[in-house]
Amino acid sequence: MTDVPHLTVIDHPLVQHKLTIMRDKRTSTSGFRKLLREISLLLAYEITRELDLTTTAIETPLCPMEAPVLEGKKLALISILRAGNGLLDGILELIPAARVGFIGLYRDPVTLLPVQYYSKVPADLDLRMVIVVDPMLATGNSSAAAIDLLKKAGAKNLRFLCLLAAPEGVARMREAHPDVPIFTAALDDRLDEHGYILPGLGDAGDRMFGTK
Ligand code: URA
Repeated sequence: MTDVPHLTVIDHPLVQHKLTIMRDKRTSTSGFRKLLREISLLLAYEITRELDLTTTAIETPLCPMEAPVLEGKKLALISILRAGNGLLDGILELIPAARVGFIGLYRDPVTLLPVQYYSKVPADLDLRMVIVVDPMLATGNSSAAAIDLLKKAGAKNLRFLCLLAAPEGVARMREAHPDVPIFTAALDDRLDEHGYILPGLGDAGDRMFGTK
């Protein structure tokens, strides 16, 4: 696998167009969810671009050939609950054989620090590429904590996928986990005093589940 920069902004026109509609406060819950599914396919396509390939012997209807296939164990996708599940569903359409784990973290509204309430992750994390998904990289505290946990569980080859990143979150991740490349559809301006990304898209969980 070639070297990947610490931060990659996926500026594909389709990604950017869909993201704008998702940011728009007039977009309905069902519209938001549909777009999230679509955009996650495009993001997954980019994040897996550098996966290693090997070859296998097959026969086409015309002749034998050595054809490319993915090398190594299946990917592990780790969703940070609950908003991560929105990204996860789309990615699973593209990579249906991926193993899936969940980490439950909520942000204490006062300290903005992560509190873990659930964790169930696949075995053999040390042998898999592990993609952690959470739509919003805000303070970076939850993401850094989730990656701490995954490294303790053995993960070595990690990537982080989000829809929007704040500079504060990117800096936090760079400091805590410089070995974990971040892929995002946009790097926004900053956080507000409540830890929301500006201009952002609001609360991703509320937008996708209609809880507000
Ligand atoms: N989580 C969200 O859902 N939105 C933000 O802007 C920041 C964190």
